[in-house]
Amino acid sequence: MGRTGLQLSLLSYGSWVTFSKQVDDSASDRLMGIAYDNGINFFDNAESYEGGRSEEMMGRVLSKKNWDRTSYCLSSKVFFGLHGKNNKPNQHGLSRKHITEACNQALKRLQTDYLDLYFCHRPDKESPMEEIVWTMNILLQQGKILYWGTSEWSAAEIMEANAVAKELGLIGPAMEQPQYNLFERTKVERDYSPIFRDPGLGLTTWSPLASGLLTGKYNHSIPEGSRLALENYAWLKDRMMQEEKLDKVRQLISVANELGTSVGILSIAWCIHNPNVTTTILGATKAAQLTENLKALEIYPQLTPEIMVAIDDIMGNKP
Ligand SMILES: NC(=O)c1ccc[n+]([C@@H]2O[C@H](COP(=O)([O-])OP(=O)(O)OC[C@H]3O[C@@H](n4cnc5c(N)ncnc54)[C@H](OP(=O)(O)O)[C@@H]3O)[C@@H](O)[C@H]2O)c1
Repeated sequence: MGRTGLQLSLLSYGSWVTFSKQVDDSASDRLMGIAYDNGINFFDNAESYEGGRSEEMMGRVLSKKNWDRTSYCLSSKVFFGLHGKNNKPNQHGLSRKHITEACNQALKRLQTDYLDLYFCHRPDKESPMEEIVWTMNILLQQGKILYWGTSEWSAAEIMEANAVAKELGLIGPAMEQPQYNLFERTKVERDYSPIFRDPGLGLTTWSPLASGLLTGKYNHSIPEGSRLALENYAWLKDRMMQEEKLDKVRQLISVANELGTSVGILSIAWCIHNPNVTTTILGATKAAQLTENLKALEIYPQLTPEIMVAIDDIMGNKP
């Protein structure tokens, strides 16, 4: 991962929206089993996912699986708190108080002694960078986390964190977790160039299928039970269900056909084709989805320069 010695599988598995909302313990057990048995060694989570219940579910699954703890990596993220709009002042953000309390609580929910990766889920303008860097380093020293990073920070904020760490003789962020898919590429492909050069961060990218849009499942309607049909996710539906986006997904199908694959697999393969991407975090509510998505590992080496150009021509958003 970036300049670290950590090895993450090219595809990983995360629990946003799904765990404790769409899937129960037995389904999440099956999904994590499929992931692990196919070589996935990184499971992503966050304090805010379903108000902590997503971490609790993952913790229950992991304790039942009893896999060797050294054989996989586990993450959590801090910033949003557990209570959404009902958070009290110190129950969110990146103060030393909230980072420390959130980490201790995540360890309990996930039933683990340490997190391999711990992310600042968003930047926090209210907390001084020195306080954030110091707090993460204290958690590192305590052995509660092994690598710390950021999620959806700007390149300037990441560079500042790195500079502060250097000045204080501390460890800076090792990874960033940005959205990266065929619709969202500017940050990863343009803005982040400085963070890859030096300090050399790795990327654990999210939403490779733009919440499922890039599978083509929404091309004609919103299937019952799918993410965009969920009551509390109308904001996501509004963001995704745009005719211009759907039209591009329809056009991508011809490129996928040429490769003898699906548009979803093509879209995931496109993400991991970028050498700056350490791992792309998959989401899945069904075993068949996860099994299909893993086929991206066979397709990504087949993305020739000609195919990449054909994709760029359709998307029209290459930075
Ligand atoms: N750091 C951050 O701010 C942040 C933000 C978002 C996500 N993440 C992380 O990234 C992970 C992945 O994000 P994501 O869940 O948005 O990924 P995604 O791949 O864009 O969307 C996954 C969803 O698409 C649908 N899907 C997946 N494969 C499919 C297939 N083969 N056929 C049909 N439908 C399929 C499923 O939803 P339905 O079955 O419900 O339709 C699935 O839950 C999250 O779990 C989380 O760990 C991080």
